[in-house]
Order: sequence, then structure tokens, then C-alpha cells
Amino acid sequence: MTGNQLAKQATRNASRGLLRNLRRAIRPFGVFFQGFLENPRMVGSIIPSSQVTIDAMLEQVDWQRCHLFVEYGPGVGTFCPHILDRLPSGGRLLVIDTNPRFIEYLNRDIIDPRFHAVHGSAADVETFVEQLGAAHADYVLSGLPISTLPDGVAETIVDATYRVLRHGGAFLTYQFRPTARELTQERFDRTTRGFVFRNIPPCLLTWGWKGKRSPT
Ligand SMILES: C[S@@+](CC[C@H](N)C(=O)[O-])C[C@H]1O[C@@H](n2cnc3c(N)ncnc32)[C@H](O)[C@@H]1O
Repeated sequence: MTGNQLAKQATRNASRGLLRNLRRAIRPFGVFFQGFLENPRMVGSIIPSSQVTIDAMLEQVDWQRCHLFVEYGPGVGTFCPHILDRLPSGGRLLVIDTNPRFIEYLNRDIIDPRFHAVHGSAADVETFVEQLGAAHADYVLSGLPISTLPDGVAETIVDATYRVLRHGGAFLTYQFRPTARELTQERFDRTTRGFVFRNIPPCLLTWGWKGKRSPT
């Protein structure tokens, strides 16, 4: 090959690499948007959560005491890598979503022995936790569109969440409307709150704690 041909080949390889990276970066948005178009009431939002929301939501987790973290409605996994980054090496992350497209995407995209993605409803969290051989979850994060779920489903999910959590564990929600916060306040022993302006749209953060005080 001449120097000229080598230079052309290098340019072609560089643009292919660039295209591949661009496709990889855009793909989750495409999968998420497609999921939204297929089932707008169940997905609830067309824009994944912002980095500020993720950091604020995960800030109150005691990672050293976290053996099983559960996430409802992970979508295309906006929170998943951030949870896995913080989770101890012996911990597990169980994600539950009713959309098989999202579960299939996550199982392909996230290769980590601590990661378990299941297709199903958050209402059945106790069964999924039991299937992992665990007695309780330490934390449950919900990305569910609580206020647009069919009648009675949100209440069933929040009740099951309280039962599945260990004493001192917490239920974490980030929502545009106050429904999740109200349900959490009614069912949990104490709550802490936050607000993130830098999210589209801005959202209310709520931590519902099981037990009056966390055990030390
Ligand atoms: C707004 S998206 C959340 C996306 C992502 N967690 C984020 O913050 O960017 C809501 C997700 O909840 C899922 N979902 C809706 N109802 C559910 C249920 N009963 N159990 C589990 N997942 C559910 C939808 O399929 C969708 O992936």
C-alpha cells in the first residue's frame, strides 16, 4: 500500500469508529422513544432522567450496607451503570420492567455478574427477590410513572415494596407529580424529601424509610 492509500484507509477507519460510537450513544434514546410510542401511559416520559437527578437520588444510600438494590422501571438503564458503580462487589442489582424490549436491551448492554434484569411487574417484587434467594431488599428505586398507572396498581406496588424492604431500608422515588410522595408518606414510617430543578421536567424526590430510625 502506498502512503496515500494508507492515509485514506486510516480516515475510513476513523469515520467508521466515529459512526459506531455515535450509534452507540444514540441507541438508548431510540429504544426508549420507541418504548414510549408503543406504550405512553406505562413509560410516562419521553426523556430519561438527568445526571443531577441520578446523583441526588442515590446520595442517601448507605452503599456499604447494600446487598440487594432493586429498581422498578429501569427503561434503557439510565440509573443502572451509576448504581453498579457504587454497589459493593458482593452486591446485586435487580431491575424489573414490564416492557420486554427494555429488558432485552439491558441484558445485551450490561455485562456484570451483579446485574439481574427481569421482565414483569413491580407488583411481584417479593417473588423476584425470593427467586434471587434473598430475604429482603435494602433499597428500592422506582422510575415508574406512578400517577398514570392503572387504578390500584400503584398502591399494590408501594405495599409490596414496604414488605420486601429490610428494616432501615428505603423506597426512592423521583416524580413530576406528588402521587408517589403522597403514597410513600401514607405507607412508610418516615420520609425525607428533595427537589431537582435541573431535570426535564423538574421533579420531586422522596425517600420513604422503613423503621423510625435506621439501625446503626
Ligand atoms: C419513565 S420510564 C423510566 C425510565 C428510567 N428509569 C429513567 O429514569 O430514565 C418508566 C418505566 O416504567 C416501566 N413500567 C411501567 N409500569 C411498570 C410496572 N408495573 N412494573 C415494572 N415496570 C413498569 C415502563 O416500561 C418504563 O420502562
